[in-house]
Amino acid sequence: MTTLTDIRQVLAGDALAKFDLPIEEARGLPNDAFTSQAYFDLERKTLFARTWVFAGLASDMPDPGDVRPVDVAGRPIILTHGRAEEINAFHNVCPHRGARLVVENLDGSAMMTCPYHAWTYAMDGKLKARPHFHKPDCHDNRGDDNVSLFPVRCEVWHDWIFINLDGKAEPFDEHIAPVAAWFDGYPLEPMRCAEHRVYTFECNWKLAVENYCDFYHVFMVHPALHRTMTKEARKSMITMGRHLMNEYWFEATGRGGEGDKSGYGMQTIPGLKPENTNRSCYSAVFPNVAINVYPTAVQFVLFEPVAADRTRMHMWFYFVDGDHDNPDLADLRNNLCDEWDALNLEDEGICRRLQEGRLCDAYDGGRLAPYWDKGTIHFHKQLVEVMTA
Ligand code: FES
Ligand SMILES: [Fe+2]
Repeated sequence: MTTLTDIRQVLAGDALAKFDLPIEEARGLPNDAFTSQAYFDLERKTLFARTWVFAGLASDMPDPGDVRPVDVAGRPIILTHGRAEEINAFHNVCPHRGARLVVENLDGSAMMTCPYHAWTYAMDGKLKARPHFHKPDCHDNRGDDNVSLFPVRCEVWHDWIFINLDGKAEPFDEHIAPVAAWFDGYPLEPMRCAEHRVYTFECNWKLAVENYCDFYHVFMVHPALHRTMTKEARKSMITMGRHLMNEYWFEATGRGGEGDKSGYGMQTIPGLKPENTNRSCYSAVFPNVAINVYPTAVQFVLFEPVAADRTRMHMWFYFVDGDHDNPDLADLRNNLCDEWDALNLEDEGICRRLQEGRLCDAYDGGRLAPYWDKGTIHFHKQLVEVMTA
């Protein structure tokens, strides 16, 4: 069994320098990084604590007083919608004796009350009251001695709530700047979430991310997509900051082109720059999010690590406000999402094979394809950089 000490050795010494070798000689992360529970646990402690990670959708908690308990990298977290329309994040624990504070969604609630001794907190995390605090029937109704829920850094970008657990990541604006720049020219404000689908991948979360970044496999794994996606326009990933980007120029937004998944029949994003009419843009947002932006649709993807060899892939589908809930377009929206079901099923099969391959001792990180695999090496380098910082 791989121990934590073994894992630390994997990341020690020349782990980083190895990624800087010419790609013909470079090797990706070793098998343990994809198969061992110790490595998975270390990622939770280091990688997911030190970076900005996705926690929830703002549109899922639209009103003041809405509270959502979520799990982020194994930590119970509470998201709250405050009176000043702000979204806050807190550790989901009562500062008194450490009971988990919230276990169910609350809608339009004035307070959060602990089930143990009824200490009560406002949406901004401040303590408001402590019944029988001084002695029986002698209450603290002011809660003014600076007790509050433990805050977590939290930022909302478009509909997406990101948190930073250790509080030490770079400012969010800096982190997301390359992604925002890549999607410049696609006004995302009018986009509304229409559907959420979940797929289970029997592989490590990193393999699912790498597969998302792999445009090489289309001709083998996605025969239907291959027929409609011109080969000449397929490129390998572009590195920007810790993230990876791609773009695809298709011939038409109509049926029969890559535009199918862009939302055939749905309205174009108002304010779309004309040069983007036939362009789709992709970003793998470090570490475990992906965003696809098409002229008529957006998909937000989360690769949620469940176990060393299991990943829950969430896909939220966005269309232009009005199209997203128009009952006349329900069948069309459904078909568009179903097309992704088919594609994701094909990807799940091959990701399972990638996971199985990592049980072979002989595999040592790969003999990589210089044109296509630079993105994977970049991704691995970012991971090790954050985990060894
Ligand atoms: S543990 Fe929450 S009020 Fe005591
Ligand atoms: Fe794929």
